[in-house]
Amino acid sequence: MDKDVTTEGNMKHILTAEQFSHSQLYEIFDRADNFRETDGSLYSRRQNMELHFGRIMLSMFYEPSTRTRFSFELAAKKLGMEVVGTENAALFSSAAKGETLEDTIHVFNEYGIDAIALRTKEEGLARRAAAVSNVPILNGGDGKGEHPTQAVLDAHTVHSELGSLENKNYVFVGDNYHSRVVSSDSVVFSTFPGNTITSVSIPELHMRPEVKAKIVANGAQYHETTSLYEALESADVVLVGRLQVERLAESDIRLTEEEIRRKQEALQINNAAMNHMHENAILLHPLPKLKYDIDPEVDADSRAKYFRQAGNGLYVRMAMLDMLMQEADAREPEL
Ligand code: ASP
Ligand code: CP
Repeated sequence: MDKDVTTEGNMKHILTAEQFSHSQLYEIFDRADNFRETDGSLYSRRQNMELHFGRIMLSMFYEPSTRTRFSFELAAKKLGMEVVGTENAALFSSAAKGETLEDTIHVFNEYGIDAIALRTKEEGLARRAAAVSNVPILNGGDGKGEHPTQAVLDAHTVHSELGSLENKNYVFVGDNYHSRVVSSDSVVFSTFPGNTITSVSIPELHMRPEVKAKIVANGAQYHETTSLYEALESADVVLVGRLQVERLAESDIRLTEEEIRRKQEALQINNAAMNHMHENAILLHPLPKLKYDIDPEVDADSRAKYFRQAGNGLYVRMAMLDMLMQEADAREPEL
């Protein structure tokens, strides 16, 4: 395990989906379930707000976000933390004047804060931020690199819906090449025994070679197909993803959005496609979902779990923040 990521087996930063042991994942799931339950009463909500009162999280998102930013900020507030941030760090921080992320993080380390939630356009920037930060960095997505908290919340969703992460057929549909969710999720799922990961896409947009290599090294089977219905028939978990249009300009895949949309038409999940899915299988999407990914008629299908999945994100992020702050508390001699 990476030294940047852990301090003697504990979590210091959250940078990659690869950093979590299975016991850490189960600990996060338990805490998340507890936070979901206690969020239901004002009395216990107020108790949760005493957990990390006095601590402060900075929220720096250089790319658009609905779920990751709001759920991280809500998670911090529900734990009693203050949140300071900007709507659009790319536009309203001095990054717009050319300041490097490293300098920005150096400065934040001078401000007596406790965590930094970060989303960047460029792959690898969360690690570069962590390299200069004593304050925990929470990677909310770094370009097409990783989205580790999404992987944990997706694993939690599978675990709570199906009871286990093992012996499953995980089917990823869509732009598996540019998706940081696919990179992070497949790496977590492939560490559990008996799993198969299937990429359903047009030939150009299957998973990247380095992601496939990790899946196989973790001991899972990896398959690729263009045949959606056939893959759905044997799926336990189907994860659909949006075409990452914002990555196309800098991609080594030389196709336009229009060309991809045309080729991908047959991959839309609609009620006809759902008829090929087992009655106990579940359908996930990190969101935002577009009509090209999933026909809105599918929202009414009880196997569509994507809104519940997004809700799990709040409680999983509360759990991770709680663990990081407890570890910080343990390092503070005066507490
Ligand atoms: N929200 C996810 C992400 O930021 C998926 C997406 O935007 O397509 O990676
Ligand atoms: N799932 C996810 O990361 O959503 P946002 O991009 O809206 O944060």
